[in-house]
Amino acid sequence: MANAAPVEKLFTSTQPGRAMAERFVAGDTLDSAVDAARILNEAGFTVSLDLLGEEVTDVDSAGSAVDEYLSCLDRIESEELVANISIKPTQLGLAIEESLASEAIIRLGKRAAEIGTTVTIDMEDSRYTEATVRLFELGQTETANFGVALQSYMKRTPADLDRLIPLGGHIRLCKGAYVEPEEVAIQSKAIVDAAFERQMRTLMAAVTTTPAIATHDSKLLETARALASRRTAPFEFQMLYGVRSDVQRELVAAGFPLRVYLPFGSQWYPYLTRRLAERPSNAWFFARALLSGS
Ligand code: FDA
Repeated sequence: MANAAPVEKLFTSTQPGRAMAERFVAGDTLDSAVDAARILNEAGFTVSLDLLGEEVTDVDSAGSAVDEYLSCLDRIESEELVANISIKPTQLGLAIEESLASEAIIRLGKRAAEIGTTVTIDMEDSRYTEATVRLFELGQTETANFGVALQSYMKRTPADLDRLIPLGGHIRLCKGAYVEPEEVAIQSKAIVDAAFERQMRTLMAAVTTTPAIATHDSKLLETARALASRRTAPFEFQMLYGVRSDVQRELVAAGFPLRVYLPFGSQWYPYLTRRLAERPSNAWFFARALLSGS
């Protein structure tokens, strides 16, 4: 789905396709994201604003993404939102030249520090893992207000945890959303779940980093809640906008800190395909809506 142009057109140019995107994306504009963030803040959630876009291949587009993120930080400040930003390295130019992404990281980290917030670096596919870890290290050296996502399915993640936990900031633990070869990633869901649990225990026992436990998995959440009740240092749960909103509300009502990952922007198709792959029934729902003409 991610690479088939006709399927992309079906999603982006039909009403059921756009309706499906609306479930997972705040809207096309920064204004729509700010509105959604305000509502989430009022309901007790913190937010991570994610400008959609990835795999940028020209320098101008990478520069525009940095400018848009700077506007995003301006709005977080002026609207007094309880929010940070999540960025994708390839949106900032990593696929063109690592130095472009490094410069962007430094600029965004400085502006985020001025307004007292943080920057989380999303983890993309395995071609970029090592460079993304280096960007996190750079950000922590420069302004010390960074976090990075690590994926439980990656075989290198236990070593990355050892490398990054001492650096402070925050580490978002997620299962991993890309199709990866066996050489680098665990293929069995049960083994990924077990790896997530082990890595979560490591993170929740660490005091030098702030763990961000990013899953909607009921069994893992149950274990996380037990670990959280024994933890005295900061931590948070993180979940995606539009996914298991009932569970999100339940966690906040029980007093747990929860950050909602809130994507916005017009480049939503690759993000949507990952959300559909995680739950194929979402795609069936879309297909039925398309066939019934609703
Ligand atoms: P799992 O896939 O086992 O789902 C558990 C349950 O959650 C399902 O049974 C279903 O009920 C519900 N669910 C999960 N996904 C759903 C969906 N799309 N629609 C409806 N229901 C759904 N990945 C990555 O590679 N790099 C990254 O930087 C990030 N960042 C990130 C941030 C945050 C805040 C979250 C929560 C997740 C990510 N991810 C990510 C995505 C992550 O790797 C993973 O693909 C998804 O979170 C799904 O995995 P779960 O842990 O939820 O478990």
